[in-house]
Amino acid sequence: MISNRLKSLAKYFDKDDKVIDIGCDHALLDIYLIEEGILKNMIVSDIHEKALQQGIDNIKLHKLEKRIETRLGNGLEVLNENDDIDTVLISGMGTSTIIDILDGSIFPLGPTKKLKKLVIQSNNDHDILRHEIAKEAGFEITNEEFFIDNKKAYINIVFEKNKKFKLINYNKKDIKYGPFLKSNIDYLNYREEYVKKILDKVPKNKIIIRYILNKELKDINRFKKNIK
Ligand SMILES: C[S@@+](CC[C@H](N)C(=O)[O-])C[C@H]1O[C@@H](n2cnc3c(N)ncnc32)[C@H](O)[C@@H]1O
Repeated sequence: MISNRLKSLAKYFDKDDKVIDIGCDHALLDIYLIEEGILKNMIVSDIHEKALQQGIDNIKLHKLEKRIETRLGNGLEVLNENDDIDTVLISGMGTSTIIDILDGSIFPLGPTKKLKKLVIQSNNDHDILRHEIAKEAGFEITNEEFFIDNKKAYINIVFEKNKKFKLINYNKKDIKYGPFLKSNIDYLNYREEYVKKILDKVPKNKIIIRYILNKELKDINRFKKNIK
């Protein structure tokens, strides 16, 4: 059964997207995308043979071998010129792995120039993710979602290549909190609670750390007031 965490990613795809899921593992989301008619076909990959084999077995079980092509290898290296991929899906990994995978491919002159959309569910460091993909590589953040599934918090971010390749001037707060999430009350409440918990544990003499955390609480409160 597919989790709500994985299902949450399905809404970001259009029928004509030419998608690769990197780090597919069980391939449950990919099977869902095809069975629900969201995509016609796709490529899925994983760097670990055992993980990919799980995907292959599940794909066979659902008789989707002709519509989901599996490849073993590291990140975008599994692609070649003829694959015509324009959309990358990456979920269930940390930001540093995600950036390593995309590095060299999200920049205008990179090997996968045709990439137009990145659908990403990173486990951590969303500020670094935004910085690298939006600020450095010039993609636009077109959607962000925060949700809790099985008592765990998740963030989905969709980056799209700006058609005119016009750099959007994201400010520091956009990068830190997210241009969409800074006006998302659930996210702000969650983050406020999280920062307060840390602050409770920081000793009174750690003035700089306490200052940074208090500044963050002030930001959050300002964002919350702007929503009301
Ligand atoms: C935690 S699983 C996530 C699986 C699925 N995407 C999900 O969200 O449930 C991460 C998968 O990414 C794979 N992986 C990690 N680094 C990779 C890379 N550089 N290229 C391809 N796959 C990678 C791992 O082998 C693992 O199967």
